[in-house]
Amino acid sequence: MEAQFGIRKLLSNQPIVPVVNFTSVSDVAATITKLVDQGINCIEITLRSDCAWQAIEEAIKIKPSGFLVGVGTIVSKDQVSTCIKLKVDFIVSPGATTEISKALNESNIPFLPGVMTPSEIIAGLEKGWDTFKLFPFNLAGGVKALKTYGAVFSQAKFCPTGGLNETNYKECLELNNVICVGGSWVMK
Ligand code: 3PG
Repeated sequence: MEAQFGIRKLLSNQPIVPVVNFTSVSDVAATITKLVDQGINCIEITLRSDCAWQAIEEAIKIKPSGFLVGVGTIVSKDQVSTCIKLKVDFIVSPGATTEISKALNESNIPFLPGVMTPSEIIAGLEKGWDTFKLFPFNLAGGVKALKTYGAVFSQAKFCPTGGLNETNYKECLELNNVICVGGSWVMK
């Protein structure tokens, strides 16, 4: 399989991935319109509210052509199955167990597995993965961690998330091993 079903290429075209937790499905349309107006053509909807799946279904239903709807906070294989059923555009997990890794590898959907440590990166590389969510970016060591991982793991690229804001995201995007950045600051 192409590494993680083409996630690197997919997200390289979307340098800013807004992470959004919807508490009301009625906010979905206005949020997508606002993002498109800002030139942002993707969203990661987190599974952290009771209406999250409904919000994802609504986003998929109304999204303009070319707009990507991703699902974040994946912590179980059943959630991966629901993503497959709903035909989401990409999947993001904060970390990956053996069970979740297997489900993701069989999903046929571009996915971004979460890592924080060198051993987690090595475990991912062993599975044939090459593009990761560095999470939580601020606790992993921020830009210094990305630079160190760039020197050690030249084949790996990252989407840092967790603690990014309107001032530090630009520094991340300048790094060679960063394909995109994610965070909730975009919609705040
Ligand atoms: C994520 O799921 O990517 C993070 O929780 C986003 O973190 P932030 O709210 O610090 O941007």
